[in-house]
Amino acid sequence: MNDTKNWYITGASKGMGLAIAKKLLSKGHRVAATSRSVSGFDELENFGDLFLPLEVDLKSERSIAESLKTTVDKFGGIDVLVNNAGYGLGGALEELTQEEIYENFEVNFFAVVRVVQQALPYLRKQRSGHIINISSIAGFAPGLGWSMYCAAKFAVSGLTEALANDLKPLGINVTNVLPGWFRTNFAKADSIAYNKNQIEDYAFLREYHQKMSSMDGAQLGDPDKIADVFLELVNHENPAVNLFLGSDSFNRAKKKLADLSSQMDYWKDVSSSTDFGD
Ligand SMILES: NC(=O)c1ccc[n+]([C@@H]2O[C@H](COP(=O)([O-])OP(=O)(O)OC[C@H]3O[C@@H](n4cnc5c(N)ncnc54)[C@H](OP(=O)(O)O)[C@@H]3O)[C@@H](O)[C@H]2O)c1
Repeated sequence: MNDTKNWYITGASKGMGLAIAKKLLSKGHRVAATSRSVSGFDELENFGDLFLPLEVDLKSERSIAESLKTTVDKFGGIDVLVNNAGYGLGGALEELTQEEIYENFEVNFFAVVRVVQQALPYLRKQRSGHIINISSIAGFAPGLGWSMYCAAKFAVSGLTEALANDLKPLGINVTNVLPGWFRTNFAKADSIAYNKNQIEDYAFLREYHQKMSSMDGAQLGDPDKIADVFLELVNHENPAVNLFLGSDSFNRAKKKLADLSSQMDYWKDVSSSTDFGD
């Protein structure tokens, strides 16, 4: 049985996107992969017709729309859409400029909105498909020193859960993936961004940024294992809406749930105190 699929993956010149694309192509799937520059796709070129490199500006609706049309024209449809492109932004809120904040939301959140909006007409017509949005454990249980990145990833998580509800009746599955720390380019200087302005009172946050840098190359998560997880997900009759990836992510989410649950119980009477009485 040929159960290979057509995939569209954003930000696939390195890291998770590249690892996922490479593994899928090696298993005979067709992969359309976007990057800001197709010159970064050397490793995938030898997969011939299975691979479609796409130079896409994720900040441009038109560029995205054209790339999706090219994908559908070449592959005949899109089965799985993976919104993977993104980058970390460190810094206390006060330290970040409007430019740094908007740029991070543009790439981490609004690009997801644009890609999903432009892809949905194809998926709706097919009455099938699976949208996988890569959020982060930071989009569920924030750490210190990454406020705007967390906010953008919370936005991705929120949108994705809502879409899972709205699109299920149309035959489209949606999954929010929340990775822990994975061994990619994420923590390297050419990927991650930090606040250019610094306020002395927030010096303690630098320790958490330093922790990220010093962990580079030793993160627990193996990006080469993600494609098989996605294959299990898209072939499952009841795919997860939220999938925590990596035991670090899983444990951090469990702790957040336990803390949230006990906090809710403590404040239960206050929560109910605003109801109209009978
Ligand atoms: N690695 C982790 O520990 C970790 C943890 C939680 C969540 N994540 C999320 O996982 C996803 C993949 O990250 P990664 O770990 O694979 O990082 P990576 O190795 O740095 O790769 C990131 C990809 O995102 C794209 N990208 C980065 N900045 C961009 C920008 N300004 N405009 C357009 N595209 C941009 C790049 O695409 P080009 O091909 O155009 O360069 C690149 O291929 C991201 O959404 C990230 O937030 C990662």
